[in-house]
Formats: sequence, structure tokens, C-alpha cells
Amino acid sequence: MKIFSGTSNKPLAEKITKELDTDLSPLEIHIFPDGEKRVRVLEKVVDEDCVVIQSTSPEPDKNYMELFFIADALKRSGAKHIKAVIPYLGYQRQDHVFREGEAVSLEVIATLLKWEGIEEVISLDLHSIKIPQIFKIKLNHLSALSLFAKEIEKIGKNTVLVSPDMGGIRRVKNLSEMLGGMPYCLIQKDRDLATGKVTMNEIEGEVKENAVIVDDMISTGETVVAASNLLKNKGAKEIFVFATHAVFSKDAPRILENSLLHKVYVTDTIDIPHEKQFPKLEVLTVANLIAKSIENQK
Ligand code: R5P
Repeated sequence: MKIFSGTSNKPLAEKITKELDTDLSPLEIHIFPDGEKRVRVLEKVVDEDCVVIQSTSPEPDKNYMELFFIADALKRSGAKHIKAVIPYLGYQRQDHVFREGEAVSLEVIATLLKWEGIEEVISLDLHSIKIPQIFKIKLNHLSALSLFAKEIEKIGKNTVLVSPDMGGIRRVKNLSEMLGGMPYCLIQKDRDLATGKVTMNEIEGEVKENAVIVDDMISTGETVVAASNLLKNKGAKEIFVFATHAVFSKDAPRILENSLLHKVYVTDTIDIPHEKQFPKLEVLTVANLIAKSIENQK
């Protein structure tokens, strides 16, 4: 098996190959002055199983195009099977038509991945459990919840898990089970689809001294900051966030650092550049989870 990496998250790709006791195979990715890319496979892959690691984090279009070009280069060079590890699957939030006239972006992505000869995808903590149904190829859905459970256990007894919206309730229930029935509550969130503005008023369930907000991703940070304000008003003393994907758009790092949150735990599904890191941030690695999944499916 040969493992290749795109440019979006090399540090994670290197950790995964380390776990697998191997090295990344070489690729040449040349960027022309106009921004176009030329991708070339620098190793023989005839009849080989190939894995491409590429997170389709900001900027998703660039990272998807690079992944398609790598898959195309592998296909043309005779690879037997191509598997894509896409730790953060860009466009996953546009998985159906919300308002009349919209494109279903994720369906376009799923079609293109298959078209480029990718037979299988490994991804983590998808926004909705219905997403694998959109894919006409196998999608292995891993989760970072077990990593989160280990950290949450250390927080102490008087703790409640919090889902910041209805869509996250399954995640919180699963975590609660892993943590021996830890109590959980649910916030009623509304998002204006045109402006993106988040409002939160009600919490179902009892708020405790330590509140742990669990989400699939942090983009602008609006959701978790609004949730932390509400939890503080309802009596929480220390508020933590556990979110798998650190999308961190716009001013998210500054907003999170200046919020009421005590600590923000994310994973390395998305590479976080130095300028987006902040003191309250803790990054857990998913390298071992992905390496095991690659190994199990050899
Ligand atoms: C929404 O349904 C998701 O689970 C996240 O809560 C959301 O995408 C986070 O976005 P933001 O950080 O911009 O509020």
C-alpha cells in the first residue's frame, strides 16, 4: 500500500504514516503563477492500493481540486484501488436543499470523488448521519468522541454535556453512554439562513457547575459562544467545548479566546496555522484512529 498526502494537512498525514510505521510516497505539486496546479506521482503505483490524505478544509475548492488531480494522476499511473482519507469533509453542511433554488453541493462532491476513481472515503464526525447515503461509494465514518470522553472524564463529577442544537443530540447521547450515563442537556438554537446569525434562548435539562458543549465543528465560533453565554446565565461555572473540526473562519480564534469558555478542545482533522492558535486551545490528534481504520481495511 502506498500513502500520499495533499498539501492541506501534511502534519496529520505524517503522524498517520508514523503510526503505520511507513513513509509518505512522493508527489510533485507545482503551482503555476496563475494559481493552477500540476500534480505528478513520483513513484510506481501499478497494481498498488493507494491512499490519499487530504482534508478539504478552508479553502475547500482548492483542496478538493488538488485531491481530484492526485486521484487522476494515480489512476493514470495504474493504481489498483484509490482510497481517500478526508478527515474534514468540506461542503458537508450543504447536504440537502434548505431553500428553494439551492444546489446540493455535497452531492456534487460525492459524484466527482467517484468519477475520479476514488472507491472509498474515510472521514470523521460528519455533520449528519444521513451523509453516507449521498455517497455511491463506501464512506467509513469515524468519530473523535472516544478521545473526547478521555478528556471529559478528567473534568470532575458535577458535569453536564450540552448539545448546542437539535442536530447534535445524537453525539451527546453517545458520549453520555461512553461516560457511564453522564447527564446532558439540549439548547434550542435558531440560525437565520440568510445572515447566519445564531439565537439561543432555552435549555432543556439541568445545567451543572461544569458544562461541556459538544459539536461537530467550530466555524465562526458564534454557536459555541452563544451557548456559553446562555450556560453562564443558567449557573454554569466552568464551560468547555469539544468540537472535532477546527474550521475557524473569520475572527473565530479571537472570539473564542475572549469568550467565557474555559478551554476549547478540537482535533487535528484540520491543520491549524500558528496565527490561528490561541492560549485556550487544546488539539487532540486523530492520527491513531485513522491509522487503525486504514490498517483494518487493508
Ligand atoms: C451546525 O449545525 C453545526 O453543528 C455547528 O454548530 C456550526 O456549523 C458551527 O458554526 P459556527 O461556529 O459558525 O456557529
